[in-house]
Amino acid sequence: MGSYADAFARSIDHPDDFWLEAAAGVDWITPPTRALDDSNPPIYRWFPDGSLNTSANALDRHVASGRGDQVALIWDSAMTSTVRTYTYAQLLDEVAAFAGVLAAQGVTKGDRVVIYLPMIPEAAIAMLACARIGAVHSVVFGGFAAPELATRIDDAEPVAVITASGGLEPGRVVEYLPLVKAAIDQATSAPSTVIVKDRAEVPGSASDYVGWLDWDAERAAASPAAPVEVAATDPLYILYTSGTTGKPKGVVRDNGGHAVALTWSMWNVYDISPGDVWWTASDVGWVVGHSYIVYGPLLVGATTVMYEGKPVGTPDAGAFWRVIDQHQVAALFTAPTAIRAIRKADPDATELAKYNTSTLRTLFAAGERLDPDTYTWASEVLGVPVVDHWWQTETGWAIAANLRGLEPMPIKAGSPTVPVPGYAVEIVDATGGAVAAGGEGNIVIRLPLPPGTLAGLWRDEDRFRASYLNTFEGYYLTGDSGYIDADGYVVVLGRSDDVINVAGHRLSTGSIEAVVAAHPAVAECAVIGIHDDLKGQRPSGYVVLKAGVDIDDDTLRSELVQRVRDEIGAVATFRDVTVVASLPKTRSGKILRKTMRQIVDGEEYAVPSTIEDASVLDALVEQLTQY
Ligand code: COA
Ligand code: AMP
Repeated sequence: MGSYADAFARSIDHPDDFWLEAAAGVDWITPPTRALDDSNPPIYRWFPDGSLNTSANALDRHVASGRGDQVALIWDSAMTSTVRTYTYAQLLDEVAAFAGVLAAQGVTKGDRVVIYLPMIPEAAIAMLACARIGAVHSVVFGGFAAPELATRIDDAEPVAVITASGGLEPGRVVEYLPLVKAAIDQATSAPSTVIVKDRAEVPGSASDYVGWLDWDAERAAASPAAPVEVAATDPLYILYTSGTTGKPKGVVRDNGGHAVALTWSMWNVYDISPGDVWWTASDVGWVVGHSYIVYGPLLVGATTVMYEGKPVGTPDAGAFWRVIDQHQVAALFTAPTAIRAIRKADPDATELAKYNTSTLRTLFAAGERLDPDTYTWASEVLGVPVVDHWWQTETGWAIAANLRGLEPMPIKAGSPTVPVPGYAVEIVDATGGAVAAGGEGNIVIRLPLPPGTLAGLWRDEDRFRASYLNTFEGYYLTGDSGYIDADGYVVVLGRSDDVINVAGHRLSTGSIEAVVAAHPAVAECAVIGIHDDLKGQRPSGYVVLKAGVDIDDDTLRSELVQRVRDEIGAVATFRDVTVVASLPKTRSGKILRKTMRQIVDGEEYAVPSTIEDASVLDALVEQLTQY
């Protein structure tokens, strides 16, 4: 494809040519004759006349082309000290059989299936089985509590829920079945089928619940299902992500654009070829897991590593290096928090010296900004390029990256490098005016977004338009702020809304606030994301008590922490609660969250001219800076 500059220019000036060429990397049932459907701006669709099956692209075609005996998936569970491998032929058998299980339950094209599974191979099998029969999966991260699962069930209205007896966290077993039962009871939309993968390590099984089915028993009796033809524009999955309100956004991904974009990205962003061993240390519940544990590596015939464990403590800070050595990993993709956790536990990288990591060509990081300090440490200890890249659940693949397979560029610490072909990234001010190179502003992407990015929000076009398309006409609003330097390098400084990023996990402070505010002692509250040395950010709550309430701080804190765990989940990592006399507000009643964050983080701040009562801010500064 030539140089980066060439590819980028072609992708923007001639998107049809560029993406039809990229579409040749996918096996179509009906090859598309057009790439971009721009008949309904600002909503665009890709490959409107193409049809395919994503699961067949990830599995069947590799078996057909002679890769059947190559390992497709290596499951490495540090939690159970188990390694299990599946060749492409074996994975195809499992997926076809489980697709048969779903079909036997009446699951059909267009039906939704909620998948609530830990990091076990069945998660990938269930996703690919849905894709095989044209069902739309919605994977929910295991760290979310029952009410979050119920919200997603109500929005997606699944006919089936696929789950397991539970997940394994260091020092504790997470029993899923009581959570799933509670979620189904809370939800107004009732799935007709629940299928449970029984894990020996976790109590509970399908037989404890009336009508629930056992994965293994159903699989043993199943007849394999063939891949069905779906339109390129048909939905492949819905993935819920935090917005600024408590209600999560159901990001919809289509089949055709997704397969084309991920295939292109494996080659051009990650430089991964068939047979390479690729490892994304994330969770299938996040977009990174969808795109780069399951679909991306399998679409290009690579071997994907699925890891159940943590970067540290399972059993030590050498866990990642052990996996690279044992499975000959060529490239690792993880979150900066994981690297910081390893560095904190093993600053001199003594664990690394115990392993042979010479197969590793590149370390990719995303999910949050790769801070220069962590970048430098990782580069020095590993001696391979450490590549930051920036993206979001909505885009499904990188917006800005150092394109290792297309044209590797010099790395600037703190920058995810340049806009990826297909993404016309620009910086605008609050009124939509262009900002000159180096100037900070809202990061926006000129429409259309490339293939593989969100097709919309599930059954909510109004919210799709309001959240992303209406703010600046002709542009997609990323919600991030930053700048582009004189060399065209993008720098992402952080979110400009109330979304926070904790250990690479995206959370809404609004939803935590809603839980805190519901406590009977709380009159009002603000939850803000403050700096955390390990996790990048952490949520911190400031509460004003109702008049006359008598509750000691420790009791209040533990009750609020428990409520957030029960309502949102352990993943919210809500631990800080400070009781304050009042919250600083504007005259129109808006809490000055940004100013509060700046105070807590020790940053310079300006007192907003719209402040209602400056003495409230003064009192807060005095209280928060006395520690
Ligand atoms: N199911 C149930 N609970 C889960 C869970 C899951 N899948 N994942 C996390 N949790 C729980 C944890 O057990 C913990 O609970 P606790 O409060 O009882 O201890 C809580 O959620 C917070 O988890 P986590 O953010 O993982 O923090 P930690 O202190 O346990 O571990 C790190 C710290 C750095 C090891 C961890 O945050 C990490 O691995 N980060 C990398 C993140 C990552 O890969 N992100 C992917 C985005 S691309
Ligand atoms: P998620 O949708 O969970 O992937 O979170 C997306 C958000 O994470 C983005 O909008 C950014 O705020 C942040 N993010 C992800 N990757 C990066 C990165 N490489 N640099 C800076 N921020 C990032």
